[in-house]
Amino acid sequence: MTDYRPFLKWAGGKRQLLPLLVAHVKRLEAFKAFHEPFVGGGALYFALRSQNLIGNGAFLSDVNFRLIEAYQGVATSVDDVIGLLKTHASKHSNEYFYAVRASVPATSVERAARLIYLNHTCFNGLYRENSKGLFNVPIGRYTNPTICDEHNLRAVSVALGSAAIAVRPFEAVLDAAKAGDLVYFDPPYVPVSRTASFTAYAQNGFSMNDQARLAELFAELSSRGVFVMLSNSKTDEVMDLYARFHINVVHASRAMNSKPDRRGKVEEVIVTNF
Ligand SMILES: C[S@@+](CC[C@H](N)C(=O)[O-])C[C@H]1O[C@@H](n2cnc3c(N)ncnc32)[C@H](O)[C@@H]1O
Repeated sequence: MTDYRPFLKWAGGKRQLLPLLVAHVKRLEAFKAFHEPFVGGGALYFALRSQNLIGNGAFLSDVNFRLIEAYQGVATSVDDVIGLLKTHASKHSNEYFYAVRASVPATSVERAARLIYLNHTCFNGLYRENSKGLFNVPIGRYTNPTICDEHNLRAVSVALGSAAIAVRPFEAVLDAAKAGDLVYFDPPYVPVSRTASFTAYAQNGFSMNDQARLAELFAELSSRGVFVMLSNSKTDEVMDLYARFHINVVHASRAMNSKPDRRGKVEEVIVTNF
């Protein structure tokens, strides 16, 4: 069996929740297509693919255009992406990092390789843009970062070949998901407290209004016979929004807080309608 791993490190990457999410999916006897409208690093998608649990097509989307461009580059032009990453790896240095960070490549494949390179060498593997849409994370302190994992990139490219990949706001899943499909929502989490707030994934953050619209969408899909699963932080708001559904509380340690002393156990929830 092929093992597929995310080719990007992504804030909110689901490494720790993964076994639990996979276990929930396995409770379903069968589902048709799989939809992940906040795909980010795609941790669940790749885990399900690794276990042969996705058989009937996948729809992966995210509002982050640069991210989706990287997915499409790996899906359609993996040789070119690998070639460019090997060049980045051979030239990698402090100076080179900042030169690449300042560059705006002309082609989508070059931009895909640039994003993967910066993602694997920058501080904390963060992806962050400033208000002008420019990547602004400093270099990380890695002695020997893996810049080109050729084996995984080739495997992932094959896996993505059968997926529909698009830049879309999460609401678009309503047009695509049919009865019997499975939708997994991994939105930017509701902040547990102001200091723990980490919702700067894209240029525009994700408000409580967005969380409420997402909960409505969850209910709408559910009434149409779609299997729906969502993860979020365990806050009063989230407990209220999904009170009608099955809420499983899980303990996970989060590494994405910028203040090391605030890292540690936080409670998260997995909500399902099945
Ligand atoms: C918590 S991350 C997803 C992490 C992902 N599941 C993983 O395994 O890495 C949330 C994602 O939602 C995306 N996002 C934010 N607002 C969105 C919106 N309105 N519609 C779709 N995606 C959005 C962000 O770009 C980000 O990639």
